[in-house]
Amino acid sequence: MSNALATTPFAEDQLDQIRRLVSGATAEQRQWLSGYIAGFQAATEAPAVPSAPPAAKAPLTILYGTESGNAEALAAAARKSATRLGFAAKVVDMADASPDQLAKAENLVVIASTWGEGDPPQRAEAFLAALNADNAPRLPDLRFAVLALGDRAYARFCETGKQIDTRLAALGATRAAARIDCDLDYQKPAAAWIDATLREIAPVQDAGAAVIHVDFVRPQAEDRARVFEAEITAQINLNSSRSDVETYHVELSLAGSGLRYEPGDSLGFVPRNDPALVEDVLRVAGLSGDASLHEALSERFDITTLTRNQIADYAALTGDAGLRALSGDEARMAEFLSDRQFVDLLEAVPTELKAEQLTGLLRPLPPRLYSVASSQAAVGDEAHLLIGAVRWSSHGRARHGVASIDVAERRGVDATLPVYVKPNPHFRLPADPAAPIIMIGPGTGVAPFRAFLQHREATGARGRSWLFFGARRFTHDFLYQLEWQDWLESGVLSRIDLAFSRDQRAKIYVQDRLWEARRDVFTWLEDGAHLYICGDAKAMAKDVHAMLLRIIADQSGKDEDGATAYLRDVQRAGRYLRDVY
Ligand SMILES: Cc1cc2nc3c(=O)[nH]c(=O)nc-3n(C[C@H](O)[C@H](O)[C@H](O)COP(=O)(O)OP(=O)(O)OC[C@H]3O[C@@H](n4cnc5c(N)ncnc54)[C@H](O)[C@@H]3O)c2cc1C
Ligand SMILES: Cc1cc2nc3c(=O)[nH]c(=O)nc-3n(C[C@H](O)[C@H](O)[C@H](O)COP(=O)(O)O)c2cc1C
Repeated sequence: MSNALATTPFAEDQLDQIRRLVSGATAEQRQWLSGYIAGFQAATEAPAVPSAPPAAKAPLTILYGTESGNAEALAAAARKSATRLGFAAKVVDMADASPDQLAKAENLVVIASTWGEGDPPQRAEAFLAALNADNAPRLPDLRFAVLALGDRAYARFCETGKQIDTRLAALGATRAAARIDCDLDYQKPAAAWIDATLREIAPVQDAGAAVIHVDFVRPQAEDRARVFEAEITAQINLNSSRSDVETYHVELSLAGSGLRYEPGDSLGFVPRNDPALVEDVLRVAGLSGDASLHEALSERFDITTLTRNQIADYAALTGDAGLRALSGDEARMAEFLSDRQFVDLLEAVPTELKAEQLTGLLRPLPPRLYSVASSQAAVGDEAHLLIGAVRWSSHGRARHGVASIDVAERRGVDATLPVYVKPNPHFRLPADPAAPIIMIGPGTGVAPFRAFLQHREATGARGRSWLFFGARRFTHDFLYQLEWQDWLESGVLSRIDLAFSRDQRAKIYVQDRLWEARRDVFTWLEDGAHLYICGDAKAMAKDVHAMLLRIIADQSGKDEDGATAYLRDVQRAGRYLRDVY
């Protein structure tokens, strides 16, 4: 914000008004405001191309790119509203789209999320590559608007949406509304933006007079409406006491909840913050002793993430010149943000705050997701999770992952966890129980594969199955070792390849095991195997992807482009599925 204010078109008194309004607003108010401003701009700026006349139903394509379903659910909600407005609206997944289709679309709303470190959702990769290619079609007859989903905690916030927005304009399309970049609490600004954007391209003569009820199903809220306080019935650290990591197998009772999940789904829950950290934040802000604020900070606000926006807002609030300077200098900003949390910002410039000033700096506490490690066909009313404890230290302070340590340290057996089911329709066992599966899941990435094998065993599925698992040490970190061995014996698991990185001098990872087994991996692929990757997105999933391309090239004799096209075809056929985080 102060970065933006440095090159402002506003007069000084207007700037003051903006600063007062924004720094006094809660995170929710600011989110709403951003949707309102984007929408207002859409509704008041004269469009470069006039709205379509009412005679025929105007076509509207709602194109989404999603990883975990938020963009998809928003697209479905937008379609309902658009249909009610008289559009001939259709929803298209980027996984099934080509830029050529856009040339004929006339009106386009794009809803896209960002993953990895500023990457597109995996199933959108091929579409984006084609859109960015030199031979992408010109789009002079297209009007478009982009809704970007993201998380301000990431350096490349809403990168995919930003890139699509820029690229469509570069291809000659006309922006019908300003892009909106939404943080994790996207529901309200997204609803306001969809409303205003549809009004802008609405095929009614007097769009201002049209009564538009945005039928907004608030997908996250819908999942989260079915929160159940599940009793924790077991909680076991699967690593040995001599391991340097902890990974908890957690069993939850869903009895009486009516909650159903499928192998591949996740459970989500909003964790509670560490009480000691809450106390630290309150102390530095001069607000110790405020019990209701303590409760609010424990349960409702994100007090660990530190974002560029918060630094700018706090700089405006405190008037601190050093913090202000950060906003104009990306290198120093990145350096300040590195390994720091919100409390470090307060400590850098300790200032007595009012309660609403403090909460105004904070966003809502987002839920965390965990792959379900069980199948209801095997465990009935239970759900099992596999949670790696996150701990590190930086800038002289011990840091704790909010949710993982909440479970590991603050909620034991008999406590409850307020869970909801987050379906993942894009990470499912093959419909054909005889289809072979290759599962690559080091660390906690193995969780959904335990669910897959439980399910295949319980349902008598006959397809071959092959697991690649990796961890640090065989003796201390072989998660669910006995279960894999039993499944190997019974034939539910056909083959397991293990990579223990620290059992020998040279590190060995799952991708190395894939390479060693390349001939069989390729044969399985040719036999129609479904390939699954779950776990670390930053390194593992990328390294495994690169190795798969290398294996395909090596075994098929194709060049790099040919191998890429081969894997894309496997992906298009729904046989290359990733659930990475
Ligand atoms: C679809 C999905 C499924 C998932 N399934 C699982 C699962 O089955 N099991 C599982 O354990 N997790 C899973 N996760 C991850 C999980 O949701 C949480 O992100 C994870 O447990 C960390 O949450 P936390 O609240 O404990 O940590 P947070 O408080 O969110 O802290 C994590 C953040 O701290 C920072 N950080 C962490 N370590 C370091 C370090 N060494 N140095 C510097 N900074 C660091 C990073 O910014 C990191 O993003 C899944 C995520 C998704 C999206
Ligand atoms: C592992 C992971 C990586 C992410 N990376 C980014 C990122 O680099 N930039 C960003 O703005 N958001 C990032 N996000 C946030 C997602 O874009 C956000 O959760 C979004 O609502 C997901 O929408 P979807 O369900 O449609 O995929 C990331 C989320 C996860 C879990």
